[in-house]
Amino acid sequence: MKIALLGIGTVGGGVRQIIDQALGMTGRLQISHILIRPEHDKTDPRMTDDYADILGDPEVEVVVEAIGGLEPAHTYVRQALESGRHVVSSNKKMLAAYYPELLAIARQKNVRLLYEGSCGGGIPWLAALARLKRIDHIQSFQGILNGTTNYILSNMTEKGRDFAEMLSQAQELGYAEADPTDDIDGLDVRSKVCLSAVQAFDAYLKPESIPAYGIRHVTAQDIAWAGAHGYTIKLVGSGYRTEQGICAQVMPMLVSDRNLLAHVGANLNAVSASSDTLGVSTYIGQGAGRNPTAHAVVQDILEIAEQPQLPMNEVQTAENDLSGVQGVYYLSGRPAETLRDLQNPDIPDALVTRKMPLAELLERLSKLDSQLPFVAQLEETDKG
Ligand code: HSE
Repeated sequence: MKIALLGIGTVGGGVRQIIDQALGMTGRLQISHILIRPEHDKTDPRMTDDYADILGDPEVEVVVEAIGGLEPAHTYVRQALESGRHVVSSNKKMLAAYYPELLAIARQKNVRLLYEGSCGGGIPWLAALARLKRIDHIQSFQGILNGTTNYILSNMTEKGRDFAEMLSQAQELGYAEADPTDDIDGLDVRSKVCLSAVQAFDAYLKPESIPAYGIRHVTAQDIAWAGAHGYTIKLVGSGYRTEQGICAQVMPMLVSDRNLLAHVGANLNAVSASSDTLGVSTYIGQGAGRNPTAHAVVQDILEIAEQPQLPMNEVQTAENDLSGVQGVYYLSGRPAETLRDLQNPDIPDALVTRKMPLAELLERLSKLDSQLPFVAQLEETDKG
């Protein structure tokens, strides 16, 4: 099967290596084209800087998008689907932004659009959800879906390391996005939550409708307070079925030390699904980086080689229904002082709120005219 690879950066380079070295020998998969930027040296005879070379070759059956970002990745993927090619991408930002449009074309052309590497790196998380759905309704999912922030938080918590230094290491290790703003502000997890909800609930929530808070403002004091009270800070993405529909959010969480997530360190991701007959099942592994993500991409290519005709599920666009969501929230930093009236009288040594609707907290935060405080949900346990 002939494959065109768009981009030869971190993920694209890993895909080329796996296919050329491990699978190419068998002749099962063959990369016939590699799309590069015009300024890139043509170091491989398969390289071209003209996408028309790829669309014009009728033997190319699969286009692998490993460019990242919104454009031109979106246009190239749309054109590949329109031309009747299957597409594999790990570009969560682009897929979450354009999913309904791309799915409609894939369904119309009867081709597959697969994106396992977009959520949870090398963990077969989307595959697990698809497998659960063969028997169960999925009620919810929740977990750590960003390797960069987990690397930063784990090193701050376990070794007292500095935020900026750990971010820079995560960039060097190939975990972070080209612009790590998306990692630290929760936007990368927001895209992954959007795509996980598509898979879990066959429902598309616009990414902008999913509230997302990150770890930009976390301090050593927050981590110390959490530790002293039996919690570990993790950035958590979640999606739930509600009585009315679906809801999803991204927020740091003070997870109890008895929660498995508290013990998931380094760049690992871990995410759980709750479903009818299996109950809670948890999937853990390398959530970011060249080889794990490339592994997931190549798994998708093999899936297409094995089942090219499998139709894509229909997905309904839905509102993010936050009306029933309540929580206890930890707030820190100077701006949080203006929210003192929310204080939980039982926990006076930090600004921890009474149990309150998420919508009310979001409304209050949106009215702050200064930098946001660090915001986290406190996991409620029965430990008293
Ligand atoms: N920047 C992402 C992360 C890459 O750190 O998880 C994997 O999606």
